Amino acid sequence: MQKYFFICVILITLNALDNGLGRKPPMGWNPWNKYGCNINEEIVRQTADALVSTGLAAAGYIYLNLDDCWQSDRDPVTKRIIVDPIRFPSGMPSLVQYVHSKGLKFGLYSDAGMQTCEGKPGSLGYEDIDAQTYAEWDIDYLKYDNCHTDGTSPKVRYPPMSAALMKQSKKIYFSMCEWGLEKPWLWAPPIANSWRTTGDISDHWYSFIAILEEQAHLAQYAGPGQWNDPDMLEVGNGGMKTHEYQAHFALWAILKAPLLIGCDITNMSQETKKILMNPEVIAVNQDSLGIQASRVKKVLTSEVWAAEVADNGPGVVAVLFNQASLTESITIEFDKLGISGTQSVRDLINQVELGQATTSYTCQVPAHSAVMVKFRDVHTDQ
Ligand code: GLA
Repeated sequence: MQKYFFICVILITLNALDNGLGRKPPMGWNPWNKYGCNINEEIVRQTADALVSTGLAAAGYIYLNLDDCWQSDRDPVTKRIIVDPIRFPSGMPSLVQYVHSKGLKFGLYSDAGMQTCEGKPGSLGYEDIDAQTYAEWDIDYLKYDNCHTDGTSPKVRYPPMSAALMKQSKKIYFSMCEWGLEKPWLWAPPIANSWRTTGDISDHWYSFIAILEEQAHLAQYAGPGQWNDPDMLEVGNGGMKTHEYQAHFALWAILKAPLLIGCDITNMSQETKKILMNPEVIAVNQDSLGIQASRVKKVLTSEVWAAEVADNGPGVVAVLFNQASLTESITIEFDKLGISGTQSVRDLINQVELGQATTSYTCQVPAHSAVMVKFRDVHTDQ
């Protein structure tokens, strides 16, 4: 029997949050990277429609999450959070219902501090009433930020919201966003389904590669129900070239990152659609083993990230990534992937078979680009 020995064998030492959610990385949309605070119910409804009409929902993008700026105040008497009546005149329950009526799931945002990063009311000290309100509104997902705190550790401020959510009869995905400050991968698995590992991404090549660098030692902490989150996708926002966005998407997919689209999906180019809806790249992200890629090779600006996969035929997927501004020849030796013998090679981005390779695989990778290949043992295949 073919054995895949991988350096990054999952070493889950802490039990994942017991809410049954996030068995695969969540896929969906979040307005922050495109709209910032300029969000309103019209955009949300149009986005819900577009998730369905473009085929994104069918491709797996089912969460429609709000970010900061949906709240305006806290009722001084009842202490309930108040939805911004100008941005969301119909109120939250009807918007949630609309999104649900499209077969989608709905996410909200709050903060483990007195205020959110944009100065809206935070949930610190109001965890129970807020969690109860979210459950009454039938929300499915909560992103929980880390601004305007009382100075205590996230290790103190995040568990109360996790516990408050767990008290509700409705199961709610809990996405922690403390920016990796206190190494959440070491302590968050029992309280959250995913946790941000870095500061905010921006729509630039250098932001993308800086964040990627920080993921190099985190593979062992991810698995079904507990994901490292290198922040949302910038694909389609215009600040990077198409091949750079393709690399960003392939790498986020193999890192088992939550795939949260951050562009205007009511107005996507064909290139953006093609990147975001590539079924073979998405399948790597959603693979049932849930193994996050490790960086198995790095030589100057050339690197290879790889993970074992089980679905659509077991094998090993590798991303050969060239950060240089000229084409590079990148070789991956099979022993670095824990495989041997003759392997079939499939290009997952272009969905074509590339033939067979023995011992190693070499590819010319254009500047700022990624090649994503799947290796399968030819003997197992027969
Ligand atoms: C922080 C988070 C971002 C976004 C903004 C909203 O910076 O890291 O992802 O949610 O707050 O204010």
